[in-house]
Amino acid sequence: MSYSHQNMGSGLFLLFICPIFTVGSRSARGYEFGRTYVVRPKGKHQATIVWLHGLGDNGSSLSQLLESLPLPNIKWICPTAPSRPVSLLGGFPCTAWFDVGEISEDLHDDIEGLDASAAHIANLLSTEPSDVKVGIGGFSMGAAVALYSTTCYALGRYGTGHPYTINLRATVGLSGWLPGWRSLRSKIESSNEAARRAASIPIILAHGTSDDVVPYRFGEKSAHSLAMAGFRQVVFKPYEGLGHYTVPKEMEEVVHWLASRLGLEGSS
Ligand SMILES: *[C@@H]1O[C@H](CO)[C@@H](O)[C@H](O)[C@H]1NC(C)=O
Repeated sequence: MSYSHQNMGSGLFLLFICPIFTVGSRSARGYEFGRTYVVRPKGKHQATIVWLHGLGDNGSSLSQLLESLPLPNIKWICPTAPSRPVSLLGGFPCTAWFDVGEISEDLHDDIEGLDASAAHIANLLSTEPSDVKVGIGGFSMGAAVALYSTTCYALGRYGTGHPYTINLRATVGLSGWLPGWRSLRSKIESSNEAARRAASIPIILAHGTSDDVVPYRFGEKSAHSLAMAGFRQVVFKPYEGLGHYTVPKEMEEVVHWLASRLGLEGSS
């Protein structure tokens, strides 16, 4: 994603430069997802991670970055979000996992869009062999979907109530936020099964302290809300001075965390 931004008075105005898409016809389910790119494991296949791009990006640009990581036992699946009108961009069409308005404290969650993306991802993971551990990671809006999927996993159902059947083993959220954070705790606390799953899934969140797109406090608040709801294995990594992007040091930390949490071969 390329964008320029300027501070104008109190508000932050973002100008996203999206490729112009022809908005395709909608599928029966309502959303038409873009191309999915797969990075095959160079070694023994032990884990599969779906990695989700940010607003306006695509799975292709990510697969190149992931291919370069020293994680030979991971298969990466990089889907592309549907192209859809985005409220934040005044209705301009862009690849987006769900509709999003201005990132603020009272951000309205597009549960229908979140559910459609979470279901698309679950579907991509549903055919993995049973001895392969599966996880979800993402950046920015992709991190929001990764965290939303994690709450669906813990609750055992999507926002609409349909059962969520993927056995998630790890979640990575970079520079993102947690949709539905207000009601998460009461939902998790109402079921022993949900509390048990929440307590057992490892989650790593990282956020730049100088993020001018998704403010740092959203990352902090997300980690706090997860912990308060009973997610006991949440790691939160602040990155001093980092804006809305990732840096090699952060990716190294993610690599190390994934290798140890997923028990990958050759990791200490
Ligand atoms: C994917 O996004 C990158 C920018 O992140 C762009 O350069 C590239 O053309 C896009 N590829 C496709 C297939 O849309």
